Formats: sequence, structure tokens, C-alpha cells
Amino acid sequence: MSLARSHARKMKPALHVQLNSSSGNSVSPSPAPAISRPLIDFLERNPRDPAREIQFTNAGGEKEAQSIRSIPETPGGTRVPDPLMNYTLRPEDMITLKKLGEGSAGTVCKVKHVPTGFIMARKHVRCDPNPDFQRLLQRELKTLDRCHSPWIVTFYGAYMEDDELAICMEYCEGGSMEAVYKRVAEKEQTISESILGKISEAVLNGLVYLHKMHHVIHRDLKPSNIVVTMEGRIKLCDFGVSGDLVNSLAETFVGTSYYMAPERIQGGKYPVQSDVWSLGLTMVEIAQMKNPFPQNLAAFELLHYIVNQPVPSLPEDEPWSADFRDFLNQCFIKDFMKRPTPEQIMSHPFIDESSKRSDEEVNMKAWIQSVWDLGSPTAQTPKVV
Ligand SMILES: Nc1ncnc2c1ncn2[C@@H]1O[C@H](COP(=O)(O)OP(=O)(O)O)[C@@H](O)[C@H]1O
Ligand SMILES: [Mg+2]
Repeated sequence: MSLARSHARKMKPALHVQLNSSSGNSVSPSPAPAISRPLIDFLERNPRDPAREIQFTNAGGEKEAQSIRSIPETPGGTRVPDPLMNYTLRPEDMITLKKLGEGSAGTVCKVKHVPTGFIMARKHVRCDPNPDFQRLLQRELKTLDRCHSPWIVTFYGAYMEDDELAICMEYCEGGSMEAVYKRVAEKEQTISESILGKISEAVLNGLVYLHKMHHVIHRDLKPSNIVVTMEGRIKLCDFGVSGDLVNSLAETFVGTSYYMAPERIQGGKYPVQSDVWSLGLTMVEIAQMKNPFPQNLAAFELLHYIVNQPVPSLPEDEPWSADFRDFLNQCFIKDFMKRPTPEQIMSHPFIDESSKRSDEEVNMKAWIQSVWDLGSPTAQTPKVV
């Protein structure tokens, strides 16, 4: 059975994930799977989500709403209705409005879904036509589709176009944290500790949600994978499919990253604590508005540096609180067995204090709008990074 047909049979319209790959017709013998063993093991071990199974078998909107009610959706407990619920996403229905950025695995564009007028971000990633990969891909897409959380960029659907996978997701018009801090630096301003607290809090909520509800480790946490809406809502993107599975196949992917935890370099392990290491680096980078590592290190030198050199820290002469400094120190415990998990570090005083500050005290919406000068004559759209 073709992928598209088997997929259509298993999935109800509500899922609207479509894998009608033309590459499925390929007659060439499929090469051995190029997916790393640990990743296959991880995916095989990943239990199915019982709540979602209910949704698959009862795909009516009512049931779906019921089955996710136990999950904290938004602070108010509501879920924004999916405007694309009744549509199958097809390439011919999309108009590209502008390019938002380019990463190692592909390109992200702002697109319009013409039948509904709905605006989305669409990530194109080169991907492998081999059936083993496609099977894993379907599984990962299902995981993306199960994620409904205010701290996670909403997944709307995916389709194959030639040898590229198009992942359609919520467009976050405030841009990535990388774009945001570069903009703030350009304006010779700084980002306050209370804003950094709210960003850390949202990221941790997202990580705990992924881990607790879906047994997913992000694996690619960095400033460009944290995006923000113009309402000031901070969200995670690029975990799972785009962050790991595709990267494990993309020939152009360079397997080194500034944000890699020492255990990943030393033994290839990826425990949930590795995301906490990456969070520490991400927050130092946003606070300092630059990458804390010496630039121009060769890949090997960078790995050596991460494992052997002192961990990054905030300059002593800057007025950061003891709580924030200690929070970072916890993130940078080199032995992952001693490093807190996302859930454990949620109770750190830095996060605890942040969570007590109301939306009025720390107005994220006003902050992001001021970053992009919204409403002023010098208003800019978020820069591509
Ligand atoms: N959902 C989204 N909404 C708005 N901008 C996005 C979204 N996803 C990605 N982007 C932008 O596209 C850029 C490229 O993303 P990506 O291809 O994942 O590469 P990277 O994350 O390595 O920069 C990001 O840096 C970000 O600025
Ligand atoms: Mg990304």
C-alpha cells in the first residue's frame, strides 16, 4: 500500500497530515536507513499517547476538545480552534509571502493558505525518500500533531513536495529570540532580568510539557528555536522532526552545535538534562546578546572547549541577581546525573520568583512591541537571522 493511502486510512481528516510523496513511486532499491540507532531506539520506545489514540478513533472536534482538556492548554484553559481543521494542506493552495530565515536543514517562509486566508510559517526540509525514514517521519509528525500547548508552536500539517518535506506551523510574528536580541543590541538597549525570567519560565514549561506528556526531549534548544508572538507569548519550535530526525539524514547538517551538552559530545547520550544545559547557554546568549563562546573555533576545538573549559558565565561587574547566576550554574553542571531536569529546575528561585510576577508587572506584549517599534514611524518587521 502506498504511503499516502496507508496514511489516509489510519488518519482521520482532523489530522490533515499528508504524505503524498512522489518519491513513494521510486523503483530504485531503498538504501539502508541512514537514521542513527539511538534515534530509532528512542522512537521505538516512545509509547503511544492514549489520549491521542482516542482522538484518532473519534476524530470529531467535540471528542478532540474533550480528550485534551486535562492538558494545561493556555493559562485560561482554552484552546484556539484550528482554522485548518477541515482542510488537507496542499502545495498548490499556498502562496509564499516572504522568507523568514534559513537553517542548516532548510528554509522557513511566511505563507498564506489561500482557501482560508490563514497565515502560517512553512519549513521546507530536504528529506530521504526511503520507506524506513518515511515510516519514522509519520510517527514523528503524529507526535507534533499531538502537541497542544501555549508554549509550543502549533503544528498545522505537513506534505511532501518533490524530495522536500513541508512542515506548516503557527507563524510567530515577533520572530526568534535570536532575531529579538540582535534587534535589541542594534538599538543599544538591554533585556531586563524579569523578561529573561519570563522567557526561561516559558521555555521550561514547554520542555516539561514535551517530556511529561509526550516523552520528547527537545534536542535542539537555542535562541533561533524559541519564537515569540506579538502578544508576547514565547514558544518552542523545531523539536522532533525538524530538530533531530531530519538533521540525522540531511547531508548538509553539521553535527556540532554551540548548544550541545558535554555528555552528548563524550558518550552520545541525550538525557532530558541535556535540554537544561542548552537552556543555560541560550539564556546567557540572550542576556549578553551574543554567543558566549569564542567565535571561529573549528568543530573539534569547539567540542574540546565545551567539555574542558570553564562554563560560560555572566560578567561579574554586571548587575545580575544571585538567583539568575545560580540558575545558570545549575544549568551548567557538567555531570548530567547531577544536573537538574527541566521539571526540577522549575522550582529554582529564579523561576519561582518570575512566576509570581503578573502580566502587568512584566508586560511581554508591550516589550516585544517596543522591540519592533510597533506603531511607531520606525516600525520594523522582525529581521531574518
Ligand atoms: N514558526 C515560526 N514563526 C516565525 N519565524 C520562524 C518560525 N520558525 C522559524 N522561524 C524563523 O526562521 C528562521 C530559520 O529557521 P530554521 O530553518 O529552523 O533554522 P535555525 O533555527 O537554525 O535558525 C529562524 O531563525 C526563525 O527566525
Ligand atoms: Mg530552527
